[in-house]
Amino acid sequence: MKILGIETSCDECSASVVEEGKHILSNIIASQTEIHKPYRGVVPELASRKHTEWIVGVVQEALQKAGISKQELDGIAVTNGPGLVGSLIVGLSFAKGYAFSLGIPFVGVDHVKAHLYAPHLEYDIEYPYIGLIISGGHTLIGKVENYDQISIMGSTIDDACGEAFDKVASFYNLGYPGGVAIDRLSKKGNQRAFDFPFPSLHKGVHRYDVSYSGLKTAVVNQLDKFRNKQYEKTPENIAASFQKAAIEIVLSRLKLAIEDTGIRRVVVGGGVAANSYLRETLKSNRDLEVIFPSLPLCTDNGAMVAGLGYHYLAESRFSDLGLNAYPRASFISQSTIAT
Ligand code: KG4
Ligand code: ZN
Repeated sequence: MKILGIETSCDECSASVVEEGKHILSNIIASQTEIHKPYRGVVPELASRKHTEWIVGVVQEALQKAGISKQELDGIAVTNGPGLVGSLIVGLSFAKGYAFSLGIPFVGVDHVKAHLYAPHLEYDIEYPYIGLIISGGHTLIGKVENYDQISIMGSTIDDACGEAFDKVASFYNLGYPGGVAIDRLSKKGNQRAFDFPFPSLHKGVHRYDVSYSGLKTAVVNQLDKFRNKQYEKTPENIAASFQKAAIEIVLSRLKLAIEDTGIRRVVVGGGVAANSYLRETLKSNRDLEVIFPSLPLCTDNGAMVAGLGYHYLAESRFSDLGLNAYPRASFISQSTIAT
């Protein structure tokens, strides 16, 4: 089965053809980074307009690169949430129309689950595992039984990890996108320049949860309070110290999830999975089997959508034309799939 995957949940306009949920025949990602750069953040209205302009060309390129005609497609998978609703609707509407005109089924796919599917395109991964989904919109730790079954153990109680990277980078004008800029600057900075605080969440209720609002406030408003005086207040030092603090927060929760479940296999997905500190720290733990997607599959892409969608379509779990887009994470969303 050859599935077309469409992803327009934020600022990447992407289409991909994936065969049997595994083999990527094409994965076209048209990034809007340059469009949003002057605003140091994604402008939703601009994002949806660009998706509208680009989607047809991006899909055509994906088919061309895959070396197939649209008639050879067996189905379409499209992200229908969570994300920016105006952007999601562009991909979703296109997918509905395209599927209808070709007389093939389509299915709505959850963006968060798709991120965790990304490494499955590159590795044969056994279940169960502890999944860490870490991006600009989500920070989730869950026990994963199969591609569609994730029991959420913890999540952020305020900002997502990537969001904290983006906000700190925007405040200090460190570069855009923020996570990439901070990761790059960190390589020349000293992690000990600032001792940023660690969130003290209630161990019972929030055992696996993370919080970034305290760290963000410390970095943005109380920099001098946490500075070790022998180090300079340079962008590199701020970046390196912040990055360490931000990643250690989520690593501490991940450690608890691993200890409590006894599951030693960890799979990571989402934009922040590209972070070098996270990758190096987790991979250096010899007691764990750690799987990261390659860098192009960390960020938003159509291949992860096509890959996950293949499984629904293979089980004849199709969506109908009434399917809507939704803005917030909700695994209940899969009830919109007719079984
Ligand atoms: O998965 P993604 O492309 O979109 C969402 O679903 O949110 O993730 C984007 C997020 C942004 O917050 C971006 O700053 C962050 O991933 N990011 C990084 C790195 N590369 C991207 N954060 C830290 N280090 C990186 N190397
Ligand atoms: Zn994403």
